[in-house]
Amino acid sequence: MSRLVVVSNRIADPRKPASGGLAVAVGQALEASGGLWFGWSGKIVENGTPGEGDLHLQQAGNVQLATVDLSREDHDSYYLGYSNGVLWPVFHYRLDLADFDAGYIGGYRRVNQMFAHKLASLLKPDDIIWVHDYHLIPLAAELRAMGCKQRMGFFLHIPVPPPLILAAVPAHDWLIRSLFAYDLVGLQSNTDVSHFSRYVGTETSADILGEHEFRAYGKTLQVQAFPIGIDVDEFTALGEGKDAQDMYAQMRREYSRRRLLLGVERMDYSKGLPQRLKTFRQLLQSYPENVGSATLIQIASPSRESVDAYAALKQELESLCGSINGDFGELDWMPVRYIHRNVARKRLPGLYRAASVALVTPLRDGMNLVAKEFVAAQDPEDPGVLVLSRFAGAAEQLPEALLVNPYDTLRTAETIQRALQMPLDERQRRHQALLARIREHDVYWWRHQFLAALAAIPAP
Ligand code: ADP
Ligand code: F6P
Repeated sequence: MSRLVVVSNRIADPRKPASGGLAVAVGQALEASGGLWFGWSGKIVENGTPGEGDLHLQQAGNVQLATVDLSREDHDSYYLGYSNGVLWPVFHYRLDLADFDAGYIGGYRRVNQMFAHKLASLLKPDDIIWVHDYHLIPLAAELRAMGCKQRMGFFLHIPVPPPLILAAVPAHDWLIRSLFAYDLVGLQSNTDVSHFSRYVGTETSADILGEHEFRAYGKTLQVQAFPIGIDVDEFTALGEGKDAQDMYAQMRREYSRRRLLLGVERMDYSKGLPQRLKTFRQLLQSYPENVGSATLIQIASPSRESVDAYAALKQELESLCGSINGDFGELDWMPVRYIHRNVARKRLPGLYRAASVALVTPLRDGMNLVAKEFVAAQDPEDPGVLVLSRFAGAAEQLPEALLVNPYDTLRTAETIQRALQMPLDERQRRHQALLARIREHDVYWWRHQFLAALAAIPAP
C-alpha cells in the first residue's frame, strides 16, 4: 500500500491536542492511517539564511514528523506576509485588510522551493502526497519541476472568493496556474467550486471539460468539494472524560440562574467578533429580560499577532467588551466574559455542553469546525442551539442550525432571542438532524473521499 505524505505549514503531534482546524483534522486523519507529516517546525531562526532551514525528523506514534525551521526573513515574508497578509484576507473577501507588499512573493516562492527540496529527499516513488492550505499552493509545481511523478492532491481549508476578488491577488494567474500541477484539488464547499470554475472560465484560457474537470497548461485537473468534518466519536468520548465533566459541573454551578452564550475561536477578523459583541449589546437592549440573566463567554485565542490587522482587532475587542460591561454590568453580574487564551481541548466539550446557545458567526469561513464540535458535545435530551453564520462553509451542510447574517446585528439579536426561547422539542429535533449530518460527513469520510478520488486518477 502507498504511504500517505501530508504537507502543511502548521503541523502538530497528532497524539496531542491542537488548536486550528487544519492541525486538528489532519492530525486525526493521519493518526488513523500512519504516514509522514511534513511542515514548518514552528521555530524561527533570527539570523538564518533565507531559503535554508534545518530538517528535523521525529516519530510520533505511527506518524513520522519531518519539520523545517524558517529564517526570520522567510517567516516574515512567506508566513506573515504573503500567506497571512495577502492570501488570507483576500480569500476571506477582506481586500481592505490586505497588505500588497511586492516583496512578500519572493519569500513565498523561496519557502515553497525549500520545502520541495527537503521533502523530495524523503519521498518514495509510490507515495501519495496530500498538500494542505494556502501557504503551499505552488508546492506541487516545485516538486514536478524537480521530476517528482507521484500523485499529488491539494486541499484548501479556506474559501475561494469570487473571480474579481481573487484577481486582486498579485500574481493570481501564476498562483492558479501552479494549482494545475496537482491531480486533484479539494475545496470546502460547492460555492468554492463554483467560484473556482468561474475564475478559470473568465481569467484563463482553460477548457472546462465538465463540472469538476478543467484542462489547461497541458494538464487536466479535477476540482471537487470535500467538506471537512470532525471525529464525532473522539469528541463525544472527550466529553465523557473527567476534565470535560468537571468543566461542565463548574459552569452549571456558576451559571445556575443564568443562560450561557458561547463563542470559541482564534482571534481572527474573519470570525466576526466585533459584530458579535455589537449583536450581544443589541440583544440586551432589545430584550431587557436578558440583562442580569444572560452571559456571553467569548474565548478568543491569540493568533498571528505580528500582523497589524490582528493587533488592531485585539484593541477593538477589548474596548467593546469594556464598554458593554461598563454600560450593562452590575456588581454581581458581568455580561461579557472575554478570555484571550486557549482552552485545553479536553475541557472544551464541557464548556460547549454548558452553553444554551453557541454563536458561530464568522463573516466568512472555509468550514468552521467549532460549529460541528458544539453539536457533538450536546446532551441530546437537553441540547443547546447553534446560531450559525450563513457565510461559514458549514452552513451548506447544517441547515437545521439557526442561520444568520452576522452583519445584520438587529436580525441576529432577534435570532439569538429565538434560540434562547426555543422549546425543548424543537431543540431536540434540530440537534438530532445536525448530529446525523456531522456523523455522516465526519473527518474519516472527508479523508476517505479525498484519497479515494485521488487514487482513482490515473498516475501522471
Ligand atoms: P480555524 O481553522 O480558522 O482556526 P475552525 O473552527 O475550523 O477554525 O477550527 C478551529 C479548531 O481549533 C477547533 O478544533 C477548535 O476546537 C480549536 N480552537 C479554536 N479556538 C480555540 C481556543 N480558544 N481554545 C481551544 N481550542 C480552540
Ligand atoms: O484552518 C485554517 C488555518 O489557516 C490553517 O491553515 C491554520 O493552520 C489554522 O487556520 C491556524 O492558523 P495558523 O497556522 O496561522 O496559526
